[in-house]
Amino acid sequence: MSSERQPIVSGNWKMNNNHFEAIQCVQKLAYLLQKEDFDAVEVTVHPPFTDLRSMQTLIDADQLRLKLGAQNCHSEDKGAFTGEVSPVFLGKLGVHYVIVGHSERRELFGETDEFVAAKVAAVLKHGMAPILCVGETLAEREAGVTLDKVKRQVGIALEKRSNEQVKNMVIAYEPIWAIGTGKNASPADAQEVIAAIRAEVASVASAPAANAIRLQYGGSVKAGTIADIMRQPDIDGVLVGGASLDPTEFARIVQYRRHAF
Ligand code: 13P
Repeated sequence: MSSERQPIVSGNWKMNNNHFEAIQCVQKLAYLLQKEDFDAVEVTVHPPFTDLRSMQTLIDADQLRLKLGAQNCHSEDKGAFTGEVSPVFLGKLGVHYVIVGHSERRELFGETDEFVAAKVAAVLKHGMAPILCVGETLAEREAGVTLDKVKRQVGIALEKRSNEQVKNMVIAYEPIWAIGTGKNASPADAQEVIAAIRAEVASVASAPAANAIRLQYGGSVKAGTIADIMRQPDIDGVLVGGASLDPTEFARIVQYRRHAF
């Protein structure tokens, strides 16, 4: 973690929590988090699409400092794409961050690096920030191709983006074998890959862009593991799945400084 970049803790709820449950979850989270938490850490929540309007209303009405995020979007503004959601619609719902290229989208729904790059461009075009996910499978890690894969994923997503656009992005390194498994990359291993991602950003974009972009780790992050992750110099935050569904646990993750430093 660098003192120049604001830490960012994001909760990706995946396909969990209907809009009633989402309201309860966020109300509880807002009750548990204090002003000093929001001053120190940017907190984003990424509910399913059907919850977004309820979340927007709650965040506005209660003036919550949580930032609203989405889990995906299409690359086009509108058209004959049955079942897809336009980034324009997300902007109208007060969405600040859109997860793009999550490994579940890539692996289960066949999203290619090129499609992911088009989504990154679309999210930025509409004034939101992508959280671009990259990461390797267990077989790729064992074959020693982790860095090749994540560098390729980063390179394709960023190659046509301006330096100013890159500075506003977030990249989440999520080793696929660590997602939802209870296994996580050791803080040192995560730091090694994330440092390589920062170097790749410097080479595809520029050194200032690489210095500004925020890089997260994701994969079985819990309140008990975040502090060691955040001590790594290139890791600016975490992208949390399962543990973000429990507001008490997620609040403790956001509050890692209080019990760790
Ligand atoms: P878990 O925290 O459940 O491993 O999920 C990580 C993830 O995929 C977040 O996007």
